[in-house]
Amino acid sequence: MTSIRLRRNGPLVIEGDDVTVVDWSGTPYEITRRPIALCRCGASARKPFCDGSHRRVGFQADGAAAPDGDAPVG
Ligand code: FES
Repeated sequence: MTSIRLRRNGPLVIEGDDVTVVDWSGTPYEITRRPIALCRCGASARKPFCDGSHRRVGFQADGAAAPDGDAPVG
């Protein structure tokens, strides 16, 4: 099973062994660590991967999922 977890004010963390990350042309990135953390703050120097820069820039994510579904809250 694969899961994508949004870290509070941080990256998207993808857990699952059968996951690849590909660029716009379909070329896969080398995955050097798992779980995979994808940047969603835009500040990483290792895009599309998170390098921890979200802490330095004080990234604040919008809301969270509603307890009963997929609609965003906040
Ligand atoms: S989310 Fe971590 S560097 Fe962007």
